[in-house]
Amino acid sequence: MTTLHHGAQLTLTPGWTAIRVFLHVLAAAIWVGGQLVMVGLLPTARSLGSDASKSLARAFARLSWPAFIVLVLTGFWNLAALHAEPKASGWSAVMGVKFVLVILAGLGAWLHGRATSRAAMGVWGSIAGVASVLALLAGILLAN
Ligand code: HEM
Repeated sequence: MTTLHHGAQLTLTPGWTAIRVFLHVLAAAIWVGGQLVMVGLLPTARSLGSDASKSLARAFARLSWPAFIVLVLTGFWNLAALHAEPKASGWSAVMGVKFVLVILAGLGAWLHGRATSRAAMGVWGSIAGVASVLALLAGILLAN
């Protein structure tokens, strides 16, 4: 969490930290932002034909799953980098909640992709989307 103390100098993020956080945030942008954009484009996709949304979803999956893998790998890199830092109990609690959210997001997205009924597709897609946005919020709370 960033608390700006009056008079403290703003500094640049050093090399490897910048690369680590950059990769984590870039992957989050694709995984979370991509899902929101897909929902926003859905009415237009449907107007293009009955199979258009399915084709677009398949194309998005080729981007979103690699992004999810990068998120998890850089997430553990984040944890390793912060390993030795003393942590407030709230920080660890939010990290625990975030862990559950990430599992829900991944599981929801996977079941969404395998769903055969429109209802199941909606339920799992919504769970994936909400869990992903909340994981993003948790990430902001964890940022140092
Ligand atoms: C849906 C998946 C995820 C999303 C959307 C997400 C998003 C974010 C965001 C936006 C930040 C703030 C980056 C910053 O400005 O410093 C962050 C930080 C962080 N994330 Fe994630 N994250 C995800 C998965 C994970 C996973 C799986 C882990 C752990 C295994 C993790 C651990 C962390 C940690 C420890 C930080 C703090 C990094 C620091 O301050 O150096 N994240 N996350």
